[in-house]
Amino acid sequence: MEKFKFSEIKGLHIELTTKCNACCPMCSRNFKGKTREGLKIQEWSLTDCKKLIPKQFLRQLELISLCGVYGDPINAVDLKEIINYFYLCNPLLKIDLYTNGSLFNEEWWEDLALMTKDKNFNIIFGIDGSDEISELHRCNTSFEKVINNAKAYINKGGKAHWDFIVFKHNEHQVEKARELSKQLNFCSFQIKKTSRFLKRLYEFDNLLDSTILEYGKHPVYDINGNIKYILELPCTKKYRNSTEKSFFEKINQFGDVVKYLDQVEIDCQALKTNGIFISAGAEVFPCCTVYQQVCYGTVNKVKDDLELNEYKLYLKHNLSLVNQSLKDIYEGPFFQKIAESWKINKLVNGKCKSCCRTCGIDIDPHKAQHTIKR
Ligand SMILES: C[S@@+](CC[C@H](N)C(=O)[O-])C[C@H]1O[C@@H](n2cnc3c(N)ncnc32)[C@H](O)[C@@H]1O
Ligand code: SF4
Ligand code: SF4
Repeated sequence: MEKFKFSEIKGLHIELTTKCNACCPMCSRNFKGKTREGLKIQEWSLTDCKKLIPKQFLRQLELISLCGVYGDPINAVDLKEIINYFYLCNPLLKIDLYTNGSLFNEEWWEDLALMTKDKNFNIIFGIDGSDEISELHRCNTSFEKVINNAKAYINKGGKAHWDFIVFKHNEHQVEKARELSKQLNFCSFQIKKTSRFLKRLYEFDNLLDSTILEYGKHPVYDINGNIKYILELPCTKKYRNSTEKSFFEKINQFGDVVKYLDQVEIDCQALKTNGIFISAGAEVFPCCTVYQQVCYGTVNKVKDDLELNEYKLYLKHNLSLVNQSLKDIYEGPFFQKIAESWKINKLVNGKCKSCCRTCGIDIDPHKAQHTIKR
């Protein structure tokens, strides 16, 4: 049986906050144009970090990803203090921060660059277009503001990377954006072939909004719940996630997606990459996917039983850092039960669906999202 060994962890993915200034339609925090009602607004303070994340643990890490599932890290009030603290504990850390970039003024970004420029610190800006078209996916952001912030950060020595999620409405802008990224001295430009449309193939509960329209279309709502426009998959084949074809093949081969997931063998990414995930509520999970799946019970209130195996395990185990150590949680029963579930023969008998759909040996939708950087 696979073992989660605390001493082997090298990468921490931490969700600093569940707050966000944007409202991207395919983001888990949003449902029909509004923030999900069940989402708790939670956040790490510097004091929490000092109290709950052992210094010795920070010293053993190589990478910290400031990303998350429900929020954007630049919304965390103590962000800069937390970054400084992480570097104080381990100056050799690589820290990657993922953001929409559309908050604060240029001075804030210059200051961030000056405090991190001598470190292995990277900002990954999610900018899905070469002009205001980016705002069709990055709702409530301003392209002009993001670019000005990125410029200010880069000009003071900050290392910036541009991630561009491709849809039908912005696919004609990829090359223009790549050029702009070079002109502005971004370190890299990467297109992201979203895997989120695939949810339509394996999630059927209507509290997961992937279920509403036909495959390849995702509605964007106004705050009153009326459809404003529709996000669509790009037409250009090279911008489509390669696992799309594999998923359809598996569904045809097995008759339906559940039969495929029931039997798929699992190769755990978290174990392979020695990763761990900590949520904004200070709970510990093997990865962000299991966290998000647990939230199908706590936040989304999903009814489909096949989506709830992770949530049922969660209800039986305490994953909070507030009253137990990171090591005890990581090497404890929840993690063990997740790993044991990989050997169960069917979802209906307790096999974890999040693990089957993300770490099945023949389909890796997350990895397939990325292309080689320029
Ligand atoms: C919830 S966000 C948190 C970080 C930050 N707020 C951001 O958007 O970059 C986590 C990741 O989801 C990605 N994401 C958001 N919408 C997406 C979509 N439609 N397809 C693929 N990835 C998406 C973001 O680019 C980011 O890398
Ligand atoms: S910026 Fe990130 S956290 Fe905020 S809504 Fe978009 S994807 Fe979600
Ligand atoms: S989804 Fe499951 S199998 Fe995949 S990394 Fe997370 S815990 Fe491991």
